[in-house]
Amino acid sequence: MATAPPFQLVARMPSTTRLALHVFLRTSHAGMPNIVLTEQELDELAAYIVSLGPSDK
Ligand code: HEM
Repeated sequence: MATAPPFQLVARMPSTTRLALHVFLRTSHAGMPNIVLTEQELDELAAYIVSLGPSDK
């Protein structure tokens, strides 16, 4: 099974935006549990992960 990438690593990927995280977290991915979140939780989690990356997005 693939290893879960640390949030810091995900945050540094150029493709990681709040919108991309919203889409990702609403779909199924191999090796990752299906996490069911409310709209507000998704917003907060996506903002948190993006905040770990470079400040230009
Ligand atoms: C709130 C909890 C979680 C969030 C927000 C989250 C978020 C993410 C994101 C954004 C990626 C994509 C990275 C990329 O695009 O390369 C990812 C990948 C992955 N996650 Fe999670 N994850 C969570 C919990 C978990 C847990 C609990 C596990 C394992 C038990 C897990 C296992 C994985 C794996 C194996 C991948 C790689 C999938 C692949 O490369 O195909 N995740 N996760």
